[in-house]
Amino acid sequence: MNTNILVIGSGISGLTYAIKMAEQNPNLEIVMISKNNLLESNTRYAQGGIAVVSNFEKDSFDKHIEDTLIAGAGGCDEEVVRFVVKEGHERVKELIQWGAHFDTQSNGLHLTKEGGHSENRIVHHKDKTGLEIQQSLIKKIKTFSNISLLENHTLVDLITDHHSGSDYGRCYGAYVISNLKQEIIKISAQITVLSTGGAGQLFSHTTNPKNATGDGLGAAYRSKVFMERLPFVQFHPTALFPKINGNTFLISEAVRGEGALLKSLSGKRFMTEFHEKAELAPRDIVARAIAEVVNQSEADFVQLDCQTISEKDFENQFPTIKENCQKIGINPPEDPIPVIPAAHYFCGGISVNHFGETRMKGLFAIGECSYTGLHGANRLASNSLLESLVFSHRAALNSITQMKGKLPPKDFYNRLPEWKEEHYISNEKISAIGKMKKQLQKLMTAKVGIFKTSQGLIEAEMELKSIFIETQAIYRQNKLTLGICELRNMVSVAYLMIKQSQDLKQNMGVFYNQDYVE
Ligand code: SIN
Repeated sequence: MNTNILVIGSGISGLTYAIKMAEQNPNLEIVMISKNNLLESNTRYAQGGIAVVSNFEKDSFDKHIEDTLIAGAGGCDEEVVRFVVKEGHERVKELIQWGAHFDTQSNGLHLTKEGGHSENRIVHHKDKTGLEIQQSLIKKIKTFSNISLLENHTLVDLITDHHSGSDYGRCYGAYVISNLKQEIIKISAQITVLSTGGAGQLFSHTTNPKNATGDGLGAAYRSKVFMERLPFVQFHPTALFPKINGNTFLISEAVRGEGALLKSLSGKRFMTEFHEKAELAPRDIVARAIAEVVNQSEADFVQLDCQTISEKDFENQFPTIKENCQKIGINPPEDPIPVIPAAHYFCGGISVNHFGETRMKGLFAIGECSYTGLHGANRLASNSLLESLVFSHRAALNSITQMKGKLPPKDFYNRLPEWKEEHYISNEKISAIGKMKKQLQKLMTAKVGIFKTSQGLIEAEMELKSIFIETQAIYRQNKLTLGICELRNMVSVAYLMIKQSQDLKQNMGVFYNQDYVE
């Protein structure tokens, strides 16, 4: 397959970028691959909403900028924070023009609050903002005849000089695997965009869907694309305990924004002891406090007491949360919700400039797989959808400039080699993949999770080495499958996360090594 633009990943970033490119350039051919069906992305599960200044009487860009910098714990790039907050306003307006619906009240948009925000500024659609955005973008993207959508296809590796034997120092597209037939397809492209999300599946409890296995991060690592801040994994303080059908369900921070209180099993409110903003302290502080209370008690969870919210308001604003709680016999706001922290968001990722360009020519990264400098050491709640909108727009503008520059000749792309594979299948080995994924998740949760120690990181590196050796053996001896691809990516990301954690010598935001506490 040959195309001008290849977009890998179909969340808010990939969809927005592809729509903008198609709209401005009807002659360009764009291929978008989606790991599952188009709807199944991390975006779909975003409950809270988009943080954006819209009530200029009470709120201001400066306040949003300050909240982002405080949450980022000294790690943000202030210039990036400034332009994202300011440009976000236009981008959200555009999203509404494209068909996304957000809750309103008599004087405009209904704005809710989340941890770390000094004002109500979260634009939302009940408790399913991501789903609303995803559905409206899918509807829009299907109107473009120059976008080909390839569902159920997963990134295997980026095509680079290593494959082509050339020295342009560029990315030339990607090898992808069809999940159903497990066939490898070569897609050559002048511009490749990674919008592949994070890797929450590295941990035992995650709010991310099953497909969040760090495919873009793993492929970028193997292509030696520069990545930073991987140890900065944000744990969302409140995920429903226990899992439902093997998935950890998010309890939006907006529930605390509307007044819900965190209590130990004995009914004692504890967040007031940890931070002046109590339940609405920055996320890293709330997540660590909950983990500490859980570790010190016999219980597996703490409780979110929602009785401060009326029955009617809860039903109106949090229908999906209510429905999911009821699946485990809990009926909020009357019953307290059992919650635990869960891996939620990668603040770090593939290093990009202000236009989403990575350090490899022809390769962009947008959304959670990228590191732009906005989130620093701890992302402010609901700033991620905002970042996606702003950077997709900027990356689209820049892609056009790049396309006008000097590119390898057309026939170079036609001559790129097919994926080479001469392996045999062994079912016994393949059944080991599930077990190894679980082993990796257990290891990362215990030693590279909310609390780390220097000794724990050394042990994690050693145990990961044996998982890596086994993974490589499976990869070399078997026909490539989706399961092998995912495991290989998870191992690569885990390795980089452990090595970068060992290099960090002080605590900052979500990164917390207990040996550095005075
Ligand atoms: C939430 O609704 O609490 C999640 C929002 C976010 O992660 O920004």
